[in-house]
Amino acid sequence: MGYRLKTLGEFIIEHQSQFKYSEGELSRLLNSIKLAAKLVNHEVNKAGLVDILGDSGETNIQGETQQKLDVFANDVFMNILKKRDIVCGVASEEEDDFVVISDKNGGHDNKYIVLTDPLDGSSNIDVNVSVGTIFSIYHRVSPIGSPATKDDFLQKGREQVAAGYVVYGTSTMLVYTTGFGVNGFTLNPALGTWYLSHPNMKFPKGGKIYSINEGNYVHFPQGVKDYLKYCQKEEENRPFTSRYIGSLVSDFHRNMIKGGIYIYPTSTKAPKGKLRLLYECNPMAFLAEQAGGKATDGYKCIMDVEPTELHQRVPIFIGSTEMVEKAEEFMAKFPNDANY
Ligand code: AHG
Ligand code: MN
Ligand code: MN
Repeated sequence: MGYRLKTLGEFIIEHQSQFKYSEGELSRLLNSIKLAAKLVNHEVNKAGLVDILGDSGETNIQGETQQKLDVFANDVFMNILKKRDIVCGVASEEEDDFVVISDKNGGHDNKYIVLTDPLDGSSNIDVNVSVGTIFSIYHRVSPIGSPATKDDFLQKGREQVAAGYVVYGTSTMLVYTTGFGVNGFTLNPALGTWYLSHPNMKFPKGGKIYSINEGNYVHFPQGVKDYLKYCQKEEENRPFTSRYIGSLVSDFHRNMIKGGIYIYPTSTKAPKGKLRLLYECNPMAFLAEQAGGKATDGYKCIMDVEPTELHQRVPIFIGSTEMVEKAEEFMAKFPNDANY
């Protein structure tokens, strides 16, 4: 495949000058993420052959059962990020609290913060359906030289310097942005090399796909119920098509290529929504905006939400701009019930 295509390594070096305050660290950080992604990919690919399927027997701080692959992916990303001398702190969906990382001299001179959902869509692992990894990168706000603090992690999504995801699908892709558009790289597993297969990815303005767990319909806010009825109505180019994989990364990736909206709203069961602001919603919102799409909580942009806690949840409406704006029209008819 694509030996004449640009590799991810070449692409990172060519674009290094776009990172204003970086002396090559951001490039090295992206390189370490691409290595971690390869290791997780290798494990995901042989999941049916080795003892890596199923529960780990543990639960994370949010009370969710951890799968063995959740734990494996978390360990891989944490270890690789700790060993490179770039990051002063990491927070992960699978860790109770953020982790402070010292630099090679035992000090705290590193500049970057990483937040990650190491394995997204865990419920799909055992049934051989696509899963993903999501990452989000910030400059620290605490003074260089002192240990990273909670404020470094509780920055608005607007402050992100880079974000991306890996989708372990029929092929494995790494898709990321540094604020200059979105580019997608496909892994050639025989060579272990990522190639630029999807340059300058853009959400179609409109779309025909809606992705939501409709089993929760009775628990949804009235605005969401009304929007779903709109999607299902027979008119012009409707009814739309419903597609829900149950892994945000995979649903988002498909919608970005084909045009669509992903919604995880508040519900009577989950009054704050389910997805996590810092590990899932902000990085995907940055990618969506950079790809010409939109991401809101139904009322305002996700990246403008002021974070208050590490594992905070928010409702999300994300995807093709026209579809998100149509959903917002329905939401605007009712007061915002999001309690976060
Ligand atoms: P995670 O596996 O990291 O906990 O994330 C799962 C998320 C998201 O990826 C997915 O779209 C959603 O949860 C599915 O939730 P439901 O099963 O409630 O639809
Ligand atoms: Mn997730
Ligand atoms: Mn996860």
